[in-house]
Amino acid sequence: MTKTIPPETQKRALELHDILNRANYQYYVMDAPELPDVEYDRCLRELQALEREYPQLVTGDSPTQRVGAEPLAAFTQVRHEMPMLSLDNAFSDEEMEDFDRRIRERLNSAEPVEYACEPKLDGIAVSLMYRNGILERAATRGDGTVGEDITMNVRTIYSVPLKLLASDVPAVLEVRGEIYMPKAGFAALNEKAREAGEKGFVNPRNAAAGSLRQLDPRITAQRPLELCVYSVGIVEGGELPARHSEILEQLNRWGFRINSEMAIAENIQACIEYHRRLGEKRPQLAYDIDGIVFKVNSIALQKRLGFVARAPRWATAYKFPAQEEMTELLDVEFQVGRTGAVTPVARLQPVFVGGVTVSNATLHNRDEIERLGVKIGDTVIIRRAGDVIPQVVSVVESRRPADARDIEFPSHCPVCDSPVEATPGEAVARCSGGLICSAQRKQAIKHFASRKAMDIDGLGDKLVEQMVDEGLLHSVSGLYHLSLEPLVALERMGEKSAQNLLDALERSKATTLPKFLYALGIREVGEATARNLARHFGQLEKLMQADTEALQQVEDVGPVVAHYVAEFFEQPHNLEEVAALQQAGVHWEDEVQEAGAQPLAGQTWVLTGKLETLSRSEAKDYLQRLGAKVAGSVSANTHTVVAGPGAGSKLNKARELDLPVLDEEGLMTMLREQGIEI
Ligand code: IVH
Repeated sequence: MTKTIPPETQKRALELHDILNRANYQYYVMDAPELPDVEYDRCLRELQALEREYPQLVTGDSPTQRVGAEPLAAFTQVRHEMPMLSLDNAFSDEEMEDFDRRIRERLNSAEPVEYACEPKLDGIAVSLMYRNGILERAATRGDGTVGEDITMNVRTIYSVPLKLLASDVPAVLEVRGEIYMPKAGFAALNEKAREAGEKGFVNPRNAAAGSLRQLDPRITAQRPLELCVYSVGIVEGGELPARHSEILEQLNRWGFRINSEMAIAENIQACIEYHRRLGEKRPQLAYDIDGIVFKVNSIALQKRLGFVARAPRWATAYKFPAQEEMTELLDVEFQVGRTGAVTPVARLQPVFVGGVTVSNATLHNRDEIERLGVKIGDTVIIRRAGDVIPQVVSVVESRRPADARDIEFPSHCPVCDSPVEATPGEAVARCSGGLICSAQRKQAIKHFASRKAMDIDGLGDKLVEQMVDEGLLHSVSGLYHLSLEPLVALERMGEKSAQNLLDALERSKATTLPKFLYALGIREVGEATARNLARHFGQLEKLMQADTEALQQVEDVGPVVAHYVAEFFEQPHNLEEVAALQQAGVHWEDEVQEAGAQPLAGQTWVLTGKLETLSRSEAKDYLQRLGAKVAGSVSANTHTVVAGPGAGSKLNKARELDLPVLDEEGLMTMLREQGIEI
């Protein structure tokens, strides 16, 4: 007996139809997604759950029953003889185990199933039809049955073979894959668009879609698009191997790019492990992925398993936590940085995205606010990928409330009230107050004290703010004139921690020239530049006297950096500060000037795993002092890898490449031999 559908359930189902239909239209037809993928998935799953409970709800027009939406009219339509289907999703290890169990039940087998594992690229699915080895037609997926002919555009993509690399290919071969835009290409394209005063794209997927949808292939040709193939459709007049992974290898030999992360898993646990590992690697990949696709590797088993309405039973996409979410922009505040840059910061209704709860996101600068067209009260899409600071990527204009307010960029510094000035040729506006501005002073002192600079233990951000606000500290050099009594009088400061701070300050006086230079906070002078400057000039006095021409002799120093360095040492208050610091006892040994004299010059070292005696930054420091570069990843150019307990993929890679590997003991011996006292 069928249960009667409660009216509110019926209403909700129709509501979900509307949401999903609209999202499909925006996503597939307009290339302007309004709903983040997570929200879409949530709605779809809610609808699927309702339909499971009340099967009468399953109608032909339910969004659960269809694959996509109608193509735009401007391109010729193409009918896919073999439909291009979609994939079911999994969101947890348990759902992966369920997926595997269903497969084994259907196959009536207790044996583990072998799976092919592939990153799920976030691009546009395409079908490429080859006749006698020649690319005859390329089409988008469209609604799965009817797509658009984009042959002329696809021909402009270098990774698409126009002719296959072998003669023994099937007479008819349909190859399917994903066209996408790598992250770097996307960033460069958007940078160009911004320079030209254009809007740019919201994300790489949209950029790829927009690029393929160009009616003028010459425009497509200029876009950094790539193809990666992942399956075949129609095959006539030829045989393909019996396993999916072998088919891909065959395609690779015929001239197609396949994903280099592809792997075979012996069972579902290995799939789960692969998903975890790639999840960690995700931020470093050159392209966006939103999950991992797992496919039963045996084609014979795939055939036995078959399809359900929307997707094959033999494959699933295990999604990663969404990197994009929707939330409300509550307000915009303006922060003043170390160099006076005034940065608008979005205060958001807290939202869970990219694995953390986000309540602030940067809006970068005035141009960015204009580009986004964002107002206070808007619903916005937030993106947080890896460790990158959260960004506002777009505005959901259809949700703009009637009382949305324009964002007003301040003409005066919100902290010190000095005029905010726009620098010609720069997108940032800066507070003109310099060190009069307590915000800039606070940032300068925090930077000075930070670990890679003077490394003053116990001098946290809060304490700096407190001391500046209470009038205890007016400058960087003022740190070395602090005394116990006023410190103890500060809120939440005991005698012991005050004394600890004074001790740490005392210890910090013995430093190195590169650290001191970095600590000064000269614009554009990061750790590496500070090191190059120190090494080149050897002594601070020589550096201070150098003009921009002499400065440009330094490795990696161009006209801009040279200008900032020279300008810094021209300003009387900076010279006074440097003198005051030295007077207070800050000191260092002059640098060994000649790069050739350095024993590890030209070598690249990699540190991995846990170090037990040295801290990682100490080890790095010593190696750099001997002239080595310390890199984050292992390649054929790596000279030596130092591996401590818990070292993983980097150590494996080193072994694969047959590189020298030292343990911590070995490193210390080498350092001592080179005259470093540990
Ligand atoms: S297999 C019948 N493999 O994901 C199996 N799809 O929701 C169909 N995608 O539109 C797809 N990477 O564009 C497969 N390695 C991969 C993929 C992949 C990305 C996309 C594809 C499809 C969507 C399925």
